[in-house]
Amino acid sequence: MIKNDLLLRTIAGEKVERPPVWLMRQAGRILPQYRAIRSSLSGFIELVTTPELVREVTIQPVDELGVDAAIIFSDILVIPECMGLEYEMVEKKGPYFPATIQSEADIDKLDSGSAAADKLSYVYQGLSLTKEALDERVPLIGFAGAPWTLMCYMVEGSGSKTFSKPKRMLYQEPELAHKLLSKITDTTIAYLKQKVAHGADVIQIFDSWAGVLDEHTYKTFCIPYIRKMVEAINPLVPTIVFSKGAWFSLPEIQAMSPNVIGVDWNTDMSYIRKVLGPDQVVQGNLDPCVLYASHKEIEAQAINLINKVGGNHIVNLGHGVYPDTPLDGVKAFVNAVKGYRY
Ligand code: CP3
Repeated sequence: MIKNDLLLRTIAGEKVERPPVWLMRQAGRILPQYRAIRSSLSGFIELVTTPELVREVTIQPVDELGVDAAIIFSDILVIPECMGLEYEMVEKKGPYFPATIQSEADIDKLDSGSAAADKLSYVYQGLSLTKEALDERVPLIGFAGAPWTLMCYMVEGSGSKTFSKPKRMLYQEPELAHKLLSKITDTTIAYLKQKVAHGADVIQIFDSWAGVLDEHTYKTFCIPYIRKMVEAINPLVPTIVFSKGAWFSLPEIQAMSPNVIGVDWNTDMSYIRKVLGPDQVVQGNLDPCVLYASHKEIEAQAINLINKVGGNHIVNLGHGVYPDTPLDGVKAFVNAVKGYRY
């Protein structure tokens, strides 16, 4: 039994005393304790692949911030890695893939399904260790990138403002794109099933680059694959789908029946309630930059958000917390939510 089960009760649609709160990207980025560990290592990849350290940095925000959930420390890019595309994390720049996907031969060479996902034993060990050390204090969230967001990095080879290389593949070689997206989907489903088997209580799917596509393209190349993932995981644990910038596909996302729909900070919650109705459990969506404001302003914005959403709500930011966010601003946000009563 999980001691603080506020998140799970909210997901189940129960009436709760206050909304639960956690922050996307709470593990890493903001905590001095994280930076101390991180700077003692050879790099990000050493941290991600060392289960004892994964346990430590996953639990840090639970201890320091008192959030209502832990999210396992890892990265969405372990999936391309286990399929055969190695990545580097370049300091101050982000991910870089020395080899990218450009042709059908490149896709055919990739491993997929369980054969690929079984290579990620360091992730599963990290989950088991974390689950044990958390001692059922709060639920543990596992996650994966959506197929399109992973395809973005695998074809582009790095971050990008436009992701025009993977978009070019959608328009010039749609069959190739579908072949790649299918392989990523099968691998991610096998991976998420293992994550659940090793202790994840909830699964969140991050489609961080949904917003570079339009409605038609999103419906064609993204929705079917996310639906397949949700259908595979929903019988096991609840799912959260966070498609950043995909306001145009909210009805299609709701139609795949994830337990929770994550909302980015560009989309107003009044609009969300109009489109999704009062019973849909939603997560989000304060602009991460609000946490740069005065404590008074942060508290006012948090309370305004909760009132606007009106229940069936997991409070979160509308994207990951920024690395230079003042820690006391984060705490003001978490404490404002924890002090609220419906
Ligand atoms: O939420 C959490 O705290 C759990 C850990 C987590 C990380 N990455 C650790 C990380 C999660 C959920 C992710 C997801 C992720 N990774 C996404 C989707 C979410 C989003 O923010 O849109 C994406 C697009 C990535 C890819 C990625 N990983 C990028 C672009 C970068 C570089 C810049 C950055 O910090 O986002 C990473 C590196 C990374 N992943 C760091 C952390 C803590 C920072 C690296 C460091 O310590 O050097």
